[in-house]
Amino acid sequence: THSFRINIAIDGPAGAGKSTVARKVASALRYIYIDTGAMYRAVTLKALESGISTDDDSRVGQLADELDIVLLPGSESQQVIVNGENVTSRLRTLDINRNVSYIARLSRVRKRMADLQRRMALEKGVVMDGRDIGTHVLPDAELKVFLTASPRERAERRFKELEADANLTLDELEKEIAERDRLDQEREIAPLRQAEDARLLDSTGKTVDEVTEEIVQWGLAAARTL
Ligand code: DC
Repeated sequence: THSFRINIAIDGPAGAGKSTVARKVASALRYIYIDTGAMYRAVTLKALESGISTDDDSRVGQLADELDIVLLPGSESQQVIVNGENVTSRLRTLDINRNVSYIARLSRVRKRMADLQRRMALEKGVVMDGRDIGTHVLPDAELKVFLTASPRERAERRFKELEADANLTLDELEKEIAERDRLDQEREIAPLRQAEDARLLDSTGKTVDEVTEEIVQWGLAAARTL
């Protein structure tokens, strides 16, 4: 039996495990994984480096338009190349975490990112994770998942990721995540929310493999009905 390639959108709040799970789903289906959060992080890195204010839509927008952002699949995580430089290891810092939601509010930046993301998904067979993929970037995605987990569990996951930046307690980190989610949910353009036709998946207490398997099965079922 032949099954067709579909697009899979995985959205949800910070630390829900989207990138880990999305990468594994992509590898199981031999699809391409696209971490859209990394693209907003890359723009944030460059804006901070250039000393541009994080609320200057026209200057950050112009910067975003000019950046050459390439996503390469890697064994552990996706590699992000900006203007020829591999910036992957610099994207998951506290400094970026604290600024990225301001950059992600800017309309020119969002337009540019969504354009790039839609282009990457044209040939189908992508698993894209973010905040607005099911609602805005790929409203026609054949499978949409809204992945959540309890605030505590999400904080614990991010805590591990931040090891190097450990000057923060788990409680403080939980507050920072809640603040970022609030900014992402309350912004005007393409805010974080569950698409009406998205399946809700709460990963609290579930293993990565369990969550991955559930999404892979949904994906296979969706591809069979095409
Ligand atoms: O998934 P992440 O934590 O790497 O995302 C970082 C930030 O980027 C997130 O707080 C909001 C923004 N973002 C967005 O606005 N839209 C997306 N599709 C993905 C991320």
